[in-house]
Amino acid sequence: MSESPRHVRFDFAEMTPHERYKLLIGTVVPRPIAFVTTVDENGRVNAAPFSFFNCLTADPAIVAIGVENRPDMSHKDTGRNVRMTGEFTVHIVDHAMRDAMNICAVPFPPEVDELAMAGLTALPGTHVKCPRIAEAPAALECRRYVTLEVGRSREIILGEVLGIFLREGLVDVDKKYVDQAGMDAIGRMGGQGYVSTRDYFDLPSMSVAQWEQRQQDQAARGNGATEIAGARLPAGEAGGATSVSAPHTERQDKARPKKT
Ligand SMILES: Cc1cc2nc3c(=O)[nH]c(=O)nc-3n(C[C@H](O)[C@H](O)[C@H](O)COP(=O)(O)O)c2cc1C
Repeated sequence: MSESPRHVRFDFAEMTPHERYKLLIGTVVPRPIAFVTTVDENGRVNAAPFSFFNCLTADPAIVAIGVENRPDMSHKDTGRNVRMTGEFTVHIVDHAMRDAMNICAVPFPPEVDELAMAGLTALPGTHVKCPRIAEAPAALECRRYVTLEVGRSREIILGEVLGIFLREGLVDVDKKYVDQAGMDAIGRMGGQGYVSTRDYFDLPSMSVAQWEQRQQDQAARGNGATEIAGARLPAGEAGGATSVSAPHTERQDKARPKKT
């Protein structure tokens, strides 16, 4: 039996916040990026990216973004504007938008319209006053659901999604299938790193019956693999996706990106 991999343990109680931050952003990867537009009380537009972001539930439809204070402890414009207006719009960042998104992360003063600096096009919001970025493949218009104050310098803003915009051609309007390959989203890694989503694969979930069938199939082939799905697979069955005896559903066909 081969030796188990060894792990290094870090006790967060003995570490500084910055050390924890470095470990977390390098470990919880890739993270989706919320490219957030807001307006202040006077309608001034702001835009900035946040990778402490995810969709947490679909009913109610809730997304979360984690906003930290600036080093001088002042609020970032995004956090401040959501505090004042209760509204924000999250955009998904595609490969083509990566430089524009990065320009909007520059700590400009509040009077600067980052979208204009980045050469992005602002369209009027529908459910909210925040503008929608025309170049983005998707936009989620949100109303603040609740803000959690976590620690002295951070808040987690939960937003209820009031409506979503998807670029034409990216969604089957009747069936609600989203073309994830066409979306071409990028994600955030640790440090200054990013990833694309161009390396896509399917790994269908299994029912107990499908798992049992797979065990039988493997036993019949004589390879004796008995580990939990995906943990160790016989050579030639990368990811286990090909060994599942599930019927190939329409849903899976739709989700599979076209090779470009
Ligand atoms: C890809 C990316 C992800 C980021 N994620 C976060 C984040 O999750 N939380 C945060 O507070 N700042 C994050 N930042 C930094 C903010 O975008 C940056 O502080 C920005 O200037 C804030 O702008 P604002 O003051 O207009 O809101 C991120 C920056 C980049 C480029």
